[in-house]
Amino acid sequence: MLKGKKIILGITGSIAAYKSVFLLRLLLQEGAEVKVIMTPAAKDFITPLTLSTLSKNPVLTELFDEQSWSNHVMLGRWADLFVIAPLSCNTLAKMAQGICDNLLLAVYLSATCPVAVAPAMDEDMWKHSSTKENLQRLKSFGNSIIPVGNGALASGLHGEGRMAEPEQILEFIKEHFSVANELQGKKVLVTAGPTYEPIDPVRFIGNHSSGKMGIAIANELCNRGAEVTLILGPTKETVNNSRISIIKVTTALEMYEAVENRFDITDLTIMAAAVADYTPVKQATQKIKKHEAGLSLDLIKTRDILKAIGERKKSGQILVGFALETNNETEYAKEKLVKKNADLIVLNSMQDKGAGFNHDTNKVTIFSKDQVFEFETKTKQEVAKDIVDTIIRLYYA
Ligand code: CTP
Repeated sequence: MLKGKKIILGITGSIAAYKSVFLLRLLLQEGAEVKVIMTPAAKDFITPLTLSTLSKNPVLTELFDEQSWSNHVMLGRWADLFVIAPLSCNTLAKMAQGICDNLLLAVYLSATCPVAVAPAMDEDMWKHSSTKENLQRLKSFGNSIIPVGNGALASGLHGEGRMAEPEQILEFIKEHFSVANELQGKKVLVTAGPTYEPIDPVRFIGNHSSGKMGIAIANELCNRGAEVTLILGPTKETVNNSRISIIKVTTALEMYEAVENRFDITDLTIMAAAVADYTPVKQATQKIKKHEAGLSLDLIKTRDILKAIGERKKSGQILVGFALETNNETEYAKEKLVKKNADLIVLNSMQDKGAGFNHDTNKVTIFSKDQVFEFETKTKQEVAKDIVDTIIRLYYA
């Protein structure tokens, strides 16, 4: 099943490191080629000799020694998958912050392959808010988290935080490779975030879109093997997935031009951005001063990007739009499907709790011309998976 797959197994300083030996053996039995990287702390728990003997490859721990330098960039490019098991709390925090003080972290930061981590820690550490936040950051970078188990812990206590068993990690890896390539060779365009329409040098017309949903979709598409370009409006969110090409834009016009430039060579376009419908006719060159009288702004309509590319769509190109509605959701969503010549419309209802702008969760319904797919409230990463699964099932299975 894993024949010919190149895997880097990263091991960090945790008592669960002894289980990595079993994981390594399972990966080798499945035909994978494995290179092992250890953090310095991991060597306190398990010897490199055991791992190098089993993997038939030298175990790498240092960025450089007196004689040589480990090419972390090439390692990250060599691998089809980088699995860090166990992932300690300390390495997790460093990964979340972009710290690079050992070889494992340097490979992580330069890896172009997907990354999966299997955390291992005591329950209290596992439940700490900083751990949750750090894991959330890793997810936002497009990394996969292998769920922890429940049971006996190194502290002698019982609870959540045990590293998943080697067999479970192997299943996760097999599953990853069975779905990872569904969109191999497909060029995908995703728009995300708001647009800002300048009024004067200090003010703009914008909206509350955080860009999280579109970024989660871009990450998911990337994990399925697609070549992803993300056209991103102004957002505080960071996208640290080096496999995604990012084009930053500010206005609706800039977003239109970026989409238009790339649309013809794109197989799948997902328009998750909340594009401004109106923009000021004129942008004042100096700050507008206040006066006793009120202020009226003349606005003109922006180009409807989705509609414009819908009109140009050729056979084989798939177009997915979003609809954000506060009322008559179904009717408006179906109307957008026809008006914009989209293949699917993903409806975000503002009426559902935990859905819409600035939440980490969302609830969507997907409309095609003849089917409706309803989903529960889920994290935006899970919603992204549902959306991508639906697209693959309908058009690429
Ligand atoms: N959209 C677009 N260009 C615009 C406005 C919207 O491409 N100028 C896209 C959005 O990215 C989304 C879809 O159109 O995929 C629907 O956006 P929405 O704001 O819900 O609808 P509108 O078309 O703007 O219509 P209305 O505001 O009347 O609901």
